[in-house]
Amino acid sequence: MHRLTMSLVPRPGLHRRAPRRFHALLLALLLPSCIQRSEGAAAPAAAGGDPATVAGTSTKGASTAPPATLPEGASIAKKYQEFFSVGVAVTQKNLTTPEVRDIITRHFNRLTAENAWKWGELSPAKDRYDWGEADAIAEFAREHKMPMTGHALVWHRQAPGWVFARLANGDPQAIEAVKTRLKAHIDTIIPRYADVVDNWDVVNEAISDNSEKTYRDATEGSKFYGIFGSEEYVYLAFLWAQQAYEARAAGSSEGKLYYNDYNVVLKIDRIISMLNAVREKGARVDGIGMQFHVRLDWPGVELLDETMQKIIAAGYKIKVSELDVNLYNDYPDGKFKAAPAVDFTPELAQTQAKRYAELFALFRKHAEHITSVTLWGVSDDHTWLDHEPVGGRNNHPLLFDDQRRPKAAAAAILDF
Ligand code: GLA
Repeated sequence: MHRLTMSLVPRPGLHRRAPRRFHALLLALLLPSCIQRSEGAAAPAAAGGDPATVAGTSTKGASTAPPATLPEGASIAKKYQEFFSVGVAVTQKNLTTPEVRDIITRHFNRLTAENAWKWGELSPAKDRYDWGEADAIAEFAREHKMPMTGHALVWHRQAPGWVFARLANGDPQAIEAVKTRLKAHIDTIIPRYADVVDNWDVVNEAISDNSEKTYRDATEGSKFYGIFGSEEYVYLAFLWAQQAYEARAAGSSEGKLYYNDYNVVLKIDRIISMLNAVREKGARVDGIGMQFHVRLDWPGVELLDETMQKIIAAGYKIKVSELDVNLYNDYPDGKFKAAPAVDFTPELAQTQAKRYAELFALFRKHAEHITSVTLWGVSDDHTWLDHEPVGGRNNHPLLFDDQRRPKAAAAAILDF
């Protein structure tokens, strides 16, 4: 049965710079493309209450859950150090906000730049790089001896417009132009951060949301696929990343090279075929990043476990690259609606804590193959899920609450 469900719709970056009053308009324009096919996804239960029907007009859910008390001196990263590193996606502002910075240095031992290292953020115009925020995050990581995950070399979103401007799909000269620009970008950023990065998301989200296709093409927003007319850019990105490391030291594999995607449970067979083909052509691929933007009710642990076992059997490492637990299980009928406001009640805090606990139990089970687990944000006051896929609602997907206090979920993952 084919079902349209909310599934995971990364719409990052929009909330970062767009003034608030434009959100509703932007979202309204984006709505049709926000609905993705998730064949095989379990029907989500409505989150409760009557859905509002106009995007962006939902009222905000309040938090009534009390903070949790963590054991004296507890640190999530220390608790997990024999299993894998535990990271968090950050902005420069996170690092200069004392209460947030304290959570980061106490509970995490790895960083990802939430947006600052994306190509479009770094290089808004040809021959121009703005390194300010990107360098500040790297410097913080160096000072605190935290390795970084590089995110991301190639992504169809938040890529600079100038890279593709006035280029026609399939035109050999256009292909050469994009190749030159992409290789130059990779050759610029890999050496700059090679001392602090231990792995890169080389390619992000190249697989189609439509299970009848393999690759995300121009109709799903990939200018890379559009220009090349094929998935060749995926192989080239891995090859050039590998070569950029080898240029530093012959045979170097100091930076591990990953493919990263969401809804990996639905895409895994296609991901493995794609990466096996890249390996057969001679480029190194070390592992698969499972983003883990999950809901309370989906995907189930069994399905996640099966998917991890497929990755391991195929000979790839796993990283959990963008973990958060969305409270909204909406869009049961496939129509895109602003969801009802969900109050973050003590009961919901417990349900979410159980979900986090079962996920971390799964991660521990596969710890030998999991290199890191990264939360997609520090505390609920700053999360992309407040803005996407529906603007103007509160989500509470992280381990620390709006007031940066530990949640039941933080206590639950420490309790084993
Ligand atoms: C995707 C990207 C991330 C982030 C999230 C949501 O998953 O990989 O960089 O933008 O969307 O914001």
